[in-house]
Amino acid sequence: MSRWISRLTLVWAVTTLSTAAACAQQPLRVTSPDGRTVVTVRTTDGGLFYSVDRDGEKLMTPSRLGFEFRGAPPLLDGLRITGSQRDSADETWTQPWGEVAKVRDHHNELSVDVEETGAPRRHFQVVFRVFDDGLGFRYVLPAQPALQAFEIQEELTEFSFADNAKAWWIPSNRPRMDRSEMLFSESPLSVLDSVQTPLTMETRDEHTFMVIHEADLVDYPRMFLAGGPGTESRTLRAALAPMHDGVKARERTPFSTPWRTIQIADRAEDLAPSVLGLNLNPPNVLGDADWIKPMKYVGIWWGMHIGVWTWSSGPKHGATTANTKRYIDFAAANGFGGVLVEGWNQGWNGDWIANRNQFSFTKPYPDYDLRGLARYAREKGVMLIAHNETSGGLQNYERQMNAAFSLYDSLGIHAIKTGYVTDTLANGDSHYSQTMVRHQRLVLETAAKYHIMVDEHEPVHDTGERRTYPNMMTREGARGQEYNAWSGDGGNPPEHETILFFTRMLDGPMDFTPGIFDILERSANGKPRAPDEPRVRTTLAKQLALYVVLYSPMQMAADLIENYQGQPAFQFIKDVPVNWERTKVLEGRIGDYVVVARQDRDSPDWYIGAITDEDARTFQIPLDFLTPGQKYVAEIYADGKDADWLTNPLPVDISRRDVDATTTLTLRLAPGGGQAIRIRAAG
Ligand code: NOJ
Ligand code: CA
Repeated sequence: MSRWISRLTLVWAVTTLSTAAACAQQPLRVTSPDGRTVVTVRTTDGGLFYSVDRDGEKLMTPSRLGFEFRGAPPLLDGLRITGSQRDSADETWTQPWGEVAKVRDHHNELSVDVEETGAPRRHFQVVFRVFDDGLGFRYVLPAQPALQAFEIQEELTEFSFADNAKAWWIPSNRPRMDRSEMLFSESPLSVLDSVQTPLTMETRDEHTFMVIHEADLVDYPRMFLAGGPGTESRTLRAALAPMHDGVKARERTPFSTPWRTIQIADRAEDLAPSVLGLNLNPPNVLGDADWIKPMKYVGIWWGMHIGVWTWSSGPKHGATTANTKRYIDFAAANGFGGVLVEGWNQGWNGDWIANRNQFSFTKPYPDYDLRGLARYAREKGVMLIAHNETSGGLQNYERQMNAAFSLYDSLGIHAIKTGYVTDTLANGDSHYSQTMVRHQRLVLETAAKYHIMVDEHEPVHDTGERRTYPNMMTREGARGQEYNAWSGDGGNPPEHETILFFTRMLDGPMDFTPGIFDILERSANGKPRAPDEPRVRTTLAKQLALYVVLYSPMQMAADLIENYQGQPAFQFIKDVPVNWERTKVLEGRIGDYVVVARQDRDSPDWYIGAITDEDARTFQIPLDFLTPGQKYVAEIYADGKDADWLTNPLPVDISRRDVDATTTLTLRLAPGGGQAIRIRAAG
């Protein structure tokens, strides 16, 4: 009875505006559609706090909300709740491309009105949306005389956890290391210093997984997370990437921050595919864009990384007309949609970071016939992908962008790969500051005008922009394959991709560039690389499995094309799709292994990718996700006899067998190995 009355009281309090002020200091609650997650918002001593319960237990303890401004008092104390509104939605929308075709947006919303009790009586809202797979909240600052143009010194958002959960993290804000291309570490959240998102955590009872990230990042800095002080704290605070003068954001009201998101799952397997951030981005503004086409591509690329070619002009120049024709012919003969060419444009000679303002995005080197090659590619049904390395010279790129994109459009080049190899920007702004976020959006919008798809390297992390601009295809934003060519620490360790899947990949597609068959990198100088030299630290079968495990709508076959000649395993790369109807994570432990099944968007076929770390593993995989009654043929690419990433990475066993929904497959993975399977509908 008393519970019933308090529910009624709450409903009455939040819907009756005139009485809201009197009752508003009651906590407000909003619950996920399945009833398991409850967010509570309250003021305590004039501070505004939210907390999160799951299945009746505390997941997040009261965590503060607010802002510190430059030149104005903070929005932090003396706050009161003056009212609230509620809403809910249950809609399913279709992605033009992705890991899944259909996305359900099912949430309850609570919008909390907050005001300062004293002068200058500024007011704002915090909007919470709670889904079954987590929650998001954002600040909304309406236009008002006391808050017009303003400078954010700090966003004071906290994330306080009940448990000292284990986190998989890469550091942020390191002087001269302002980047995301690092190996992950694992530690309790209480010892975290300054880390990047998505930050994936597992509670110590192993029953709950949480991921902090952000969604709909527009004209605002990227959010990092800062821990401490001390090693007892279970609180992480938003730490925005700064501009050179220390200001984090320059804004005007009306203004909204990005959503701060906390994805929640019972099992690691349930973290992917992650759609929370997509649901918090505005719908597609490009309409039916039939020029946006997921594709596989090859390119003049790995040769530069292993040192057989150069980006700059000279005797080893990779981007020559003859070389590019070979790649176009190969792409056409093997069903690839694109050919990436790096080092085609003037500006690479000398130190290309110091000379960042020298890059031309329209003028080719004399040994590269841009127009002729674009025509040649078009005639063969292949698209050139124009490489635009900026080295962080944003103005140099912005100055040329319209001319360059209009040239590409006229030549039928409808895809670019951008690059921002630099730490801090030339003026001292962080690589992830508001400046870079603005630039990134300008590139995306301008590219859309010219029907150009974007693959961005050294990007600001993905916050779901692809929902609104589906020409935002893929990005780097983590250590990719390139580190296996030249990294001082020997390359990516065998566990690397099993961590990426549960961390970086939760924010969006990655241009990892799988498919190196010359695992020992003999192509570099004819000799196999020694164990302590940088090299690919996987088996060949694992390279195939990465096409299914690491999602990208633009997926490269990264090796020199001659390394695919006479290789039966290349058939898998030719077959594997880049656009999926469904995704099911069948097995997974962060840092240990992943087994994922995906169904092709354009056929009834399924694909399985399985990868392991340095340990050999065996999995029993029931194929109960297949259509009952339908017959299939499984084409299996498994680690061969005695395969081992370190000593014997090349053997692949290719076999076929009839399967259906009642079959259970046994997958045997070598140390550092993997397995790739095409399950083709028969008859
Ligand atoms: C780094 C990128 O990740 C890589 O793919 C590219 O080849 C080089 N920069 C040169 O732009
Ligand atoms: Ca890179």
